[in-house]
Amino acid sequence: MEVRAATGSLTEQQVETVVVEVGEGTARLSGPAAQVDTALGGAITSMLRDGLISGRAGEVTSIASLGRLPAKRVIVHGTGKAEARTVDGVRTRAGNLGRALRGVDAKSVAIGIQESDSPNAEASGRALAEGFVLGLYRFDRHHTRAEDRPRGAVDAITLVDASARRLAALQRGVEAGSILAEATNLTRDLANEPANLMTPTIVAERAQAVAAETGLECTIIERAEAERLGMGSYLSVANGSVQPPKFIVLRYRNGGRTRPIGLIGKGITFDTGGISIKPALGMERMKGDMTGAASVIGAMQAIARLGPGVNVLAIAPCTENMPSGSATKPGDVVYAMDGQSIEVLNTDAEGRLVLADGLAYARRENCATLVDVATLTGAMNVALGNVRIGTFANNDRLFADLERAAAAAGERLWRMPLDAEYFDLIKSDVADLKNTGGAPAGSITAAKFLERFAHDTPWAHLDIAAVSDSTSEKGVLVKGSTGSPVRTLVHFVLGRARG
Ligand code: BES
Ligand code: ZN
Ligand code: ZN
Repeated sequence: MEVRAATGSLTEQQVETVVVEVGEGTARLSGPAAQVDTALGGAITSMLRDGLISGRAGEVTSIASLGRLPAKRVIVHGTGKAEARTVDGVRTRAGNLGRALRGVDAKSVAIGIQESDSPNAEASGRALAEGFVLGLYRFDRHHTRAEDRPRGAVDAITLVDASARRLAALQRGVEAGSILAEATNLTRDLANEPANLMTPTIVAERAQAVAAETGLECTIIERAEAERLGMGSYLSVANGSVQPPKFIVLRYRNGGRTRPIGLIGKGITFDTGGISIKPALGMERMKGDMTGAASVIGAMQAIARLGPGVNVLAIAPCTENMPSGSATKPGDVVYAMDGQSIEVLNTDAEGRLVLADGLAYARRENCATLVDVATLTGAMNVALGNVRIGTFANNDRLFADLERAAAAAGERLWRMPLDAEYFDLIKSDVADLKNTGGAPAGSITAAKFLERFAHDTPWAHLDIAAVSDSTSEKGVLVKGSTGSPVRTLVHFVLGRARG
C-alpha cells in the first residue's frame, strides 16, 4: 500500500474511488467536497438535506458516479465535530477510514485535503500517511486459505490538495509518515511472528537484512564472544535453550565524533518463565516478549531512511527463556559484564537480566544516553493499563525530550518513580542485587534493578508490557502487536540531531 501526494482537482483523478470528507452538522459544502458534489449534480447536498448523510465520525456512504467522474464511485466519509480535527484525530480517522475502504473493496483511492482542515500541510500529510499505513496493517501470512484472510487490499491512496503551493510540504509529510509507519509495521511483523518462526537466529537475520537495505552496520555477538565479554547475566537466561543466543548490535553513524544514543531492546523470543515456569493459560502471548528488540530494530530502519545528523547504537540481546536440565536455577548467582553480581531468585524475571548486559555493553561503547524498551513486568498493566507507557528516567531533560517525542508521535508516556527506598526491596543477602523484589511495586523494583546498570549515564526505561498488544481494531491499532513505541523513539532521535 502506497500513499502519494498530488495537486489538482479531485474530480479529475484517474482512480477507482474518490473520497470526500464531511463534518457533522455541515450545511454548505466547500472545497473538494463541493466540487465533487457539483460534478454529481448535487447528490451529496441532497443526501445531507434528507438526513441520509450526517457527517458523524466514521460514517461511510457510497455513491455511484454514473460516469460523471473518471472514478466509479464517491465515498463520503463523516469526520464528526470540528473540534476533533487535531493531528491525533486525523491519524485515528485515517486508520479507521483505511479499513472502511478495504471493507468496501476499494483499490485505488483519491482523497481531498481541505486547507481549512489542515493549515499545516506537512503535519497532515504525515498524520494521514501514518494513519493509512498503520491502520491497514494486517498479519495474515499464515492463513493458507484465501477465505480465511480479510478480503480486499487497498493498493494506493492519493492525497489531493487543490493548492500547488502546499504540495512540497504535503509530500514531505507523506514521505516521513510512510517511513515511520512502515518501520512500525516491521516491528509488528517481527513481534507477531510465533516463536518457532522468530528464534534469536531469525531475529538476527532480519536485523542483518534491514542493515543491508538501509546502510546500517550490523554485528551479531555470538555466545562465545558474549562469554569473553563477561555477559554472564544475559547468558544465564540462554542456558536452558537449545537455540543459540544472538546479541544484536546495529549502528547508525551520521553524527561525526559525537557520542552515540543507545537504544536497548529486550529480546526474549519466548518467555516460558524458565524453571520458575509460567502457567499454561495465556503463555502464547510470550512470543511477543521480544517486542523491545523489534522496536529498536524498527526504529533503526526509520532512522537510517530519514538520515538525521546523529550517531545511534541499537542493542538487542536476544534469547529464549526455557526450562531444561541446563537452565539457570532459583538461587543461582551470576555476574554481569560490569562486574555486578546478581542472585537469580526467579528465572521468570529474565528481562532485567538480559538488559543488564545490554546496558553495560552500551556504556562500554561510550553511549551518552541510554533508552531501553522492554515488555518487562505484568505489574505495568495493573498500574497504567494499556493507555500510557510506564516510563522511568534518572534524568529530567531526557524524560522531557521523550515526552515531547511521544506527543509528536501520538503516543503517551507517564513518568514513574525511582525513590531510593525501592532499592531496599532488591538488596540480596548473598550478591549485589537480587532479580525480584516481591509483589509490591513490581514495575518500579524492576526499573531500580536496571538503574544500577546505567550507573551515572542519563537513562530512561520504557516498560511496554501492557501496551505492546492490542485486542481490538481502533484508529492506528489493529489486533496483535501495536508497534509502540517505535515512532516515539524515532522522534526522540530526530530531536537530538544536529541542525
Ligand atoms: N515477560 C514478562 C512480563 C510480561 C507479562 C510481559 C505479561 C507482557 C505481559 C516478564 O519476563 C515476567 O515474567 N515478569 C514477571 C516478573 C516477576 C517474576 C518478578 C512478572 O511480571 O510477573
Ligand atoms: Zn519472564
Ligand atoms: Zn519476559
